[in-house]
Amino acid sequence: METSEGEELQEFTVKYYEDQLIKGMENFHPGGVDYTEKLAKEVGLCEGSRILDVASGSGETALYLAMKFKAEVVGFDLSEKMVNHATERACNLGLQTLVTFKKGDVHKMPFERGFFDAAISECSLCLFRDKVQVIRNMAQVVKSGHKVAVSDVISKGEIPKELHTPLLYACCLAGAQPLKETMDIFLKAGLKDVRGYELTADINDPWKQELPVLYNEVMNAFKDAIRLGVYEAKDESELDRLAEQLLSEKFGYAIISGIVP
Ligand SMILES: C[S@@+](CC[C@H](N)C(=O)[O-])C[C@H]1O[C@@H](n2cnc3c(N)ncnc32)[C@H](O)[C@@H]1O
Repeated sequence: METSEGEELQEFTVKYYEDQLIKGMENFHPGGVDYTEKLAKEVGLCEGSRILDVASGSGETALYLAMKFKAEVVGFDLSEKMVNHATERACNLGLQTLVTFKKGDVHKMPFERGFFDAAISECSLCLFRDKVQVIRNMAQVVKSGHKVAVSDVISKGEIPKELHTPLLYACCLAGAQPLKETMDIFLKAGLKDVRGYELTADINDPWKQELPVLYNEVMNAFKDAIRLGVYEAKDESELDRLAEQLLSEKFGYAIISGIVP
């Protein structure tokens, strides 16, 4: 991706989530605390662990981990609005000594080498311009022998090129990659014992409940493409069928992790 194009997409994405925050949304990953717990288990999080939460958004993950595990968490996000909101939530919950939030870009992380027991990121890797660099940055600030782990949307098939829009990129759909390619990012970043597994294979999985939220955005992307004349016009019921099919067949959600050498 060209840098200026990547930077524009990054700006669009940050604004998209800030708008969702204004509308009252605070959780920007599927699976709620169930998936957060799975990610915590993946990195072996325990009481007192010092964790970096990359692209921490409204603070949902960081605050949960501090409450549940008494973990010391640093959340890191590019959006000042998110960082301020998350800091206010931490203060309201009396968690400000355990959880802090810092503004910055994951492509240039300001933390000390080997400072954390683990680094995690929920539903964000597919949004970053240089994914290998980001995983390498996360690995550098984690102790040797400890883990970096992310959960993210994975693609399970091609989506129509007309839907590669900024909107569906921001929704973690257009930038999603197959599980194997996401694991390759960890390998290229120099991590060991890389493993990845899909969380969404099970029909009862909470991901299925998240699909309606994404469904609206897929419908909007279809309608934008038709309005712009780049996608063949179809009636509402056909678009509805295509959107549902796309979400349930072409996407899943997975955890990928690796050990810092
Ligand atoms: C899908 S939300 C996920 C938020 C949180 N992890 C969650 O699960 O609720 C993506 C977040 O990534 C942040 N973000 C996007 N690009 C970033 C970058 N280059 N550096 C740091 N944060 C970034 C956005 O501001 C937004 O809060």
